[in-house]
Amino acid sequence: MCNSPFSLFQIPLLSLNDQSGDISMETTIITLTDDLFIGKGYHKKCYRHPHDPGLCIKMAYSDEGQKDLDREIKYLKVLKRKNKNYDILPAYYGPIETNLGTGHVYEFIQDINGGQCKTLTDYLQDPTLLNSNVSMLIEELQKLKTDLIENEIITMDIFPTNILVQWRGESNYRLRVINDMGSPALIPLEYYFSSIAKAKIMSL
Ligand SMILES: Nc1ncnc2c1ncn2[C@@H]1O[C@H](COP(=O)(O)OP(=O)(O)O)[C@@H](O)[C@H]1O
Ligand SMILES: [Mg+2]
Repeated sequence: MCNSPFSLFQIPLLSLNDQSGDISMETTIITLTDDLFIGKGYHKKCYRHPHDPGLCIKMAYSDEGQKDLDREIKYLKVLKRKNKNYDILPAYYGPIETNLGTGHVYEFIQDINGGQCKTLTDYLQDPTLLNSNVSMLIEELQKLKTDLIENEIITMDIFPTNILVQWRGESNYRLRVINDMGSPALIPLEYYFSSIAKAKIMSL
């Protein structure tokens, strides 16, 4: 997905499935400018990585956002350790220093043409877009649920704004979850016991 021709990190193939973790070997401070801004939610904002079109840099702008990031990153590391297939979530590549403070490098989830994906909310709020894609969305939502259950991926309630509809060419789409992953529990038993994980996902 992100076959970047040039990687700042000199890891030539930071592919979607190579969720290899920390690439925080970068020593200079990365400059994030307004033209790199992708979007923001209530707690975090996100920029294109200036040196790698396959990556983005996310940072918190509230305490809640920092808690979110800590939870999400910790959970992505748990999934990696458990050897789960979690490619419905963005790959995580570690922290990075920027002119705007410490950020975190993730796979930039993009359409096949390199553009930003629409969110599920974009589809739900546009009757024309929704009508012409309703069967695709139902099918992909079903696949998303199956994927979450089969791979025991724990999330909080997933809001449609946090589901990207990734266009992968012709009539090929995939839903990707960009935040809300991981458990807020102090001792997340669902990380360690399959039966608890499955019960929790089914209850969503
Ligand atoms: N991995 C990603 N790939 C593409 N866009 C992303 C990615 N992560 C975040 N974004 C963009 O950044 C915005 C904010 O990120 P998000 O994690 O949803 O923050 P918040 O917790 O504030 O909602 C998203 O709405 C989306 O536009
Ligand atoms: Mg969000």
